[in-house]
Amino acid sequence: MEKQYLIGIDIGTSGTKSVLFDTAGNVIASASAAYPMQTPKNGWAEQDPRDWWQATCKTLTEITAKATDGRIVGLGLSGQMHSLVLLDAANEVIRPAILWCDQRTDRECAEIEETLGKERLVEITANPALPGFTASKLMWVKKHEPDNFARTAHILLAKDYIRFQLTGVFATEVSDASGMQLLDVKNRAWSEEVTAGLGIDMSLLAKVYESPEVTGHVTAEAAAKTGLPAGLPVAGGAGDNAAAAIGTGVCRAGTAFTTIGTSGVVFAPTNTPIIDPKGRIHTFCAAVPSTWHVMGVTQAAGLSLSWFRQNMAKDLSYREIDEGCAALPVGAEGLLYLPYLMGERTPILDAHARGVFFGLSARHNTYHLARAVMEGVSYSLYSCLDILREVGIDVSHMALCGGGGKSAFWQQMLSDVYGISIRTLVSDEGAALGAAILGGCAAGVFASVPEACDAIVKEKSRTAPSNEAHTAYMKHYGLYTALYPNLKNSFKQLAALDAN
Ligand code: XUL
Repeated sequence: MEKQYLIGIDIGTSGTKSVLFDTAGNVIASASAAYPMQTPKNGWAEQDPRDWWQATCKTLTEITAKATDGRIVGLGLSGQMHSLVLLDAANEVIRPAILWCDQRTDRECAEIEETLGKERLVEITANPALPGFTASKLMWVKKHEPDNFARTAHILLAKDYIRFQLTGVFATEVSDASGMQLLDVKNRAWSEEVTAGLGIDMSLLAKVYESPEVTGHVTAEAAAKTGLPAGLPVAGGAGDNAAAAIGTGVCRAGTAFTTIGTSGVVFAPTNTPIIDPKGRIHTFCAAVPSTWHVMGVTQAAGLSLSWFRQNMAKDLSYREIDEGCAALPVGAEGLLYLPYLMGERTPILDAHARGVFFGLSARHNTYHLARAVMEGVSYSLYSCLDILREVGIDVSHMALCGGGGKSAFWQQMLSDVYGISIRTLVSDEGAALGAAILGGCAAGVFASVPEACDAIVKEKSRTAPSNEAHTAYMKHYGLYTALYPNLKNSFKQLAALDAN
């Protein structure tokens, strides 16, 4: 029988990855292409959507060339969530995309809650207004760049812009649409009340599908640029976290995963939309129809370590950093790090928060700083886990993925901090695999998402926590959590100074 292949594309923040899988989930070919992120001001983050498309064409061309002995039958998209893409009536990009980690919209969030009423907003969109979400970015453009807003004919998210380039269709799906804060999350459809309240014409929004549905087919023009077969069905796909859930087999309530990518996320599927009354974790539709998920998000997880290495340890590989850190004790000999390089969401919800090394002394070297960074990110992820527990979610069945998750040292640290076992998986493709599985569902290769997960996602190893290390980490965690309340006001003052 002719071999069948599936493709998963992940439009990430540091780059785009396209992966060719067989229908058993084995990687046949994989290609990545990086692009820059601009930070024109402190707390701002932008990218050119055309860079994403270029990276998609380059990586697809590379992997489709390896599919000579079979047929590509399905494709799914995943990507950074929330990032705002505006197209004009000629389908041209109007301005750089304002990214998920951009924190400029504090004021717009307050205005959104004032306009719609916070309680009603949470009732419909399942979340309070946050600078990370798309609606406040849109309101920022409306207020500060009225000409750009007036020219807008299409509002899209990162992967949905790539979908448009591939298929000519304006479509999105429920998991990513949830993060726009314009969706009625319980009913999985755009909210007329929210869009009308914010003055957003609903015709600017893409059609919403479920993640495993077919949304369009690859055009002849896109086929010529990518090597994909014209007519290939493109699935709804999912935001990168909802896609990573599928790629790690976390598709049923009672399971959870942590990802250390640019951001860090602790994610758990639920059978109903569960809302944290304090708004510290997000409640979104999941990629499995009729299910939802909650997730805590720390803004700068892998970003903290890559920022540190790029600026302070350029000559060291990540492996060398791990080795140096492993020789140090828990607590990095009296050094703590708060990972607020891009403000923070869970648990503090503060756009003005900034990164901190606390306790620096002349004894500390590069490895102490690196260890403090990894510990600080792990504490932030632990606080996400803690809130999931607080709202009644079982997090004992925890998987790990993302670039940072590949480090055995960080795996052990996370297991020790969490105090629970952590599973790694045979395939570490996470979001790209999840997207490909959704592509396979849309193409009729798999009967359902959970069935596909059961058949494809396999456990590789389990890292068990050390009770002794957990106890030691928890002592430092106590001080870690005490630092932010002491600094909250100072962060505000710093932001005011920086604005002048
Ligand atoms: C989730 C979020 C990030 C991005 C990273 O709410 O903003 O995890 O999806 O790509």
